[in-house]
Amino acid sequence: MDIKEIRSLAKDRMKGVCNLCSECNGIYCSGQVPGMGGTGSGRAMKRSYEKISQVKLNLKTIHEAKKPETNIMIFNQNLSLPLISAPVTGSEINMGGYLSEADYCKAVVSGSKMADTFAMIGDSGNPQFYIDGLNAITEENGCGIAIIKPRENNKIIENIKKAEIANALAVGVDIDGAGLVTMALLGQPVGPKSKAELKEIISSTNLPVILKGIMTVEEALLAVEIGAKAIVVSNHGGRILDDTLAPIEVLPEIAKAVKGKITIMADGSVRSGRDIFKYIAAGADIVLCARPIIWGAIGGGSEGVASYINHLKNELIQAMILTGANNIGEINSDMISYNFDI
Ligand SMILES: Cc1cc2nc3c(=O)[nH]c(=O)nc-3n(C[C@H](O)[C@H](O)[C@H](O)COP(=O)(O)O)c2cc1C
Repeated sequence: MDIKEIRSLAKDRMKGVCNLCSECNGIYCSGQVPGMGGTGSGRAMKRSYEKISQVKLNLKTIHEAKKPETNIMIFNQNLSLPLISAPVTGSEINMGGYLSEADYCKAVVSGSKMADTFAMIGDSGNPQFYIDGLNAITEENGCGIAIIKPRENNKIIENIKKAEIANALAVGVDIDGAGLVTMALLGQPVGPKSKAELKEIISSTNLPVILKGIMTVEEALLAVEIGAKAIVVSNHGGRILDDTLAPIEVLPEIAKAVKGKITIMADGSVRSGRDIFKYIAAGADIVLCARPIIWGAIGGGSEGVASYINHLKNELIQAMILTGANNIGEINSDMISYNFDI
């Protein structure tokens, strides 16, 4: 499917909840949580966009990188590009309700698989949404990852067992969801986790465990120490705490501390293949992407998701040709320049 068509259909179907702005800078949707925006003033989302925009690619064309390869291995799976669809819940409350929650999950999980990658599914105040996500993973023979809210430990472990039955590739906790008042109002309390609680979660399963929402070197080191298999450097798309730093600002120092010891995922304002390139050059092994995947799903179902991912992949290849990277492993920090201090 054509990207312009997907975006235009998504814009109509989202009925103003998302304006599909040419620059997804968090201004139009500022403060719209629930909705598609960043929380409060929207500054955390706006900052993610601004900072990733201020990372520049160093153009180079005297080299041999004529046909770059974008595939990578993660959790014993070969992915066609270093991008996973991020966990997203709340079709009705956040995205305008064009798709049911179950249809949204199916579109994202199967569309990601069609593009030879996979999706994460999320968890929310309505426990059925997690089940909808797991059902989509089951239908795709376990091709997906389940990300659970930082509920009480026994509830998390219960949900991990369900993910094991669905044959999920990995599980995780979006630990940055610790302050979600909406969850408590729905009788589903969440909160910060102690080191001991995280250890208990990690030792409850043989699946790789991911901690999503790490923004400091201190917590990245802690994730390594307690045996997490991956972290996601993320501010949750600017949706959980106003005035956080942008993930791209903290990623280089986190990578310096833990690269090679744990898989580093990162997200926030990935809107093009160049943005994927920037995050990899800044130290991520793989990136997550949320809002464009939502547009893909609403604008074109699973085909829309696959088309959007393939579009990002083509842009990534273009960026690699014009910077001199033959493969993802060759992308490094010399290939980018920061227009801000890191
Ligand atoms: C509408 C919406 C719902 C989301 N729901 C979840 C969720 O249930 N669990 C979670 O870990 N993250 C959730 N996120 C955060 C994303 O997984 C991701 O971290 C963030 O949006 C990445 O930024 P991007 O949208 O700029 O790509 C949600 C984001 C959006 C926009």
